[in-house]
Amino acid sequence: MKIKSIIRGAGGFVPGEPVSNTDLIARGVDTDDNWIRERTGIMTRHIAPPEMMTSDMAIAASEIALKNAGVAAADIDLIILATTTPDNTFPATAMKVQTALGCTPGIPAFDIQAVCSGFIYGLATANSYLQTGLAKRALIIGAETMSRVVDWTDRSTCVLFGDGAGAVVLEAAPEAEASGRGIISSHLHADGRYGPKLYTDGGVAMNQRAGLLQMDGREVYRHAVTNLAEVVDEAILQNNFKYSDLDWLVPHQANIRILESTAKKLDMPMDKVIVNIDRYGNTSAASVPLALAEGMNSGKIKEGELCLLEAMGAGFTWGAVLLRL
Ligand code: UT7
Repeated sequence: MKIKSIIRGAGGFVPGEPVSNTDLIARGVDTDDNWIRERTGIMTRHIAPPEMMTSDMAIAASEIALKNAGVAAADIDLIILATTTPDNTFPATAMKVQTALGCTPGIPAFDIQAVCSGFIYGLATANSYLQTGLAKRALIIGAETMSRVVDWTDRSTCVLFGDGAGAVVLEAAPEAEASGRGIISSHLHADGRYGPKLYTDGGVAMNQRAGLLQMDGREVYRHAVTNLAEVVDEAILQNNFKYSDLDWLVPHQANIRILESTAKKLDMPMDKVIVNIDRYGNTSAASVPLALAEGMNSGKIKEGELCLLEAMGAGFTWGAVLLRL
């Protein structure tokens, strides 16, 4: 029996009040509002207070996702949490989510580290679990506290990132009962040759520190545009769809110009692209599920619509998931 993985509900969480570009200047960052708006599209981001950790935001987003899905925590049998800013080096942050939500002890729960593409990797992995019968109801989360890993003295990177979390509940259904809904295909890629273009200058094995984010912005931008253009083609054309079949693009929010470039390639108007970079900045693995949760919970994205989720980030990693909601 063929199984389809259907998204039953989604939730998003961002901490505290929005922090504007002007607020960053007041905090000592040598930047200006116009530069950030024009080059990136970012107007505000959210920054977690010192006592808040990645797990707290993951738990908050998951609770909303479970409620919207109408699924009890006890019915979840797999947790995958995508993050590059875990609470601890170990155990995985997914463990804290499992315990806090009251999920059944003993179910598999683990973190995935693919930086900004982490949620796409997590969703693809969960889909494989569901399709092979290893799980029936999975919670997939993207959660990040990027504010703790950026170098606040480096204006070329610190203004770009924000904190937050997004989560979805994915449920297995026999294809015959899925009415065409569910994940159609997932496409994951990585190319380690570009590691030095976006990385932290630390790590457990390297120097016992998390390190601070370093980025060659122009190079990342150039590859993001190309890799995303290729992966959207892979997802749409290999499934014998046309660009015009797509109802929604739910992209990783790294730079409004990258979003516009992908939309242009797909010949999609920007009102068919879920955009929240203006309010949240780049929240790494949280960005796609935050956008999806906003799209679904605002009533924009409707059941049965064809959605393309895509992301590109450090590694480089990139990927896409095509699904019918
Ligand atoms: O999520 C992972 C994927 N990440 C991405 O996709 C990010 C990709 N990269 C980008 O989005 C863009 O490359 C950036 C937004 C990071 C930078 O935009 P850019 O148009 O490539 O600017 P640039 O790095 O070439 O910098 C141009 C100028 C420089 O000044 P000079 O040397 O031309 O006088 C910088 O010093 O902008 C200056 N600058 C700033 N000015 C004010 C850099 N950062 C800032 C800042 N405020 N925050």
